[in-house]
Amino acid sequence: MSRDDRVTITVDGVPVGGRAGQSIAGVLIGAGEQAWRTTSFASAARGVFCGIGVCFDCVVEVNGLADVRACLRRARDGDVVVRQHIAPPEVIP
Ligand code: FES
Repeated sequence: MSRDDRVTITVDGVPVGGRAGQSIAGVLIGAGEQAWRTTSFASAARGVFCGIGVCFDCVVEVNGLADVRACLRRARDGDVVVRQHIAPPEVIP
């Protein structure tokens, strides 16, 4: 792998290396991650489920933008990725 083939993103502030052309999910899986978000109600771990942009299980925050599907978004050098947990809405009595 040449220097031009590498990308480095940060995930919750930690640098993670990947190859140019990989999706963010691909970089995360390549780094040994299987889950990077938790569900709103049960806080259940989620990562890639469909891998084709349909299920939204893989969403992350990228460069300040929430709900980015990691399986579709190509990783760009310097991307700042944050794991998502969106609290459930408050129930108004
Ligand atoms: S894994 Fe289903 S949308 Fe990304």
